[in-house]
Amino acid sequence: MSTRLNSVGHWLLAGLLGVSPALTLAAGDPAAAVAVVGRCVACHGADGIGKAPQYPNLRGQKASYIEKSLKAFRSGERKDPSMSAMAKPLTDAEIANLAAYFETVD
Ligand code: HEC
Repeated sequence: MSTRLNSVGHWLLAGLLGVSPALTLAAGDPAAAVAVVGRCVACHGADGIGKAPQYPNLRGQKASYIEKSLKAFRSGERKDPSMSAMAKPLTDAEIANLAAYFETVD
């Protein structure tokens, strides 16, 4: 009985893991980020390297983390005088594109 439940559980887990990336990660388009990335480069650099000590590097950062950070700034869950204002007008699609851009920029 318990063996049978366990195999069903594993099957369900595998199914959920297979599906969840599509649900949690919007597939951003780095090329489409050009429409908005101009707002970020004065501080974070077009190459994702911060222009001054107080501006974090975004180059090579995982897109999922960039996306999570931007949404936290947008919602007010995370606060910063510069970033709260920058994130506020961004759409989910713009955030996904920016995240993909900074993850892959070189
Ligand atoms: C006026 C300067 C400025 C501009 C413009 C700016 N940022 Fe930022 N950004 C900052 C600062 C300062 C921080 C650090 C905030 C903190 O300490 O929490 C930051 C943090 C971040 C973080 C979190 C990094 C981490 O490691 O947690 C992300 C992601 C980010 N910015 C993305 C962007 C994007 C995308 C844009 C353009 C839409 C942008 N920023 C525009 C100054 C700026």
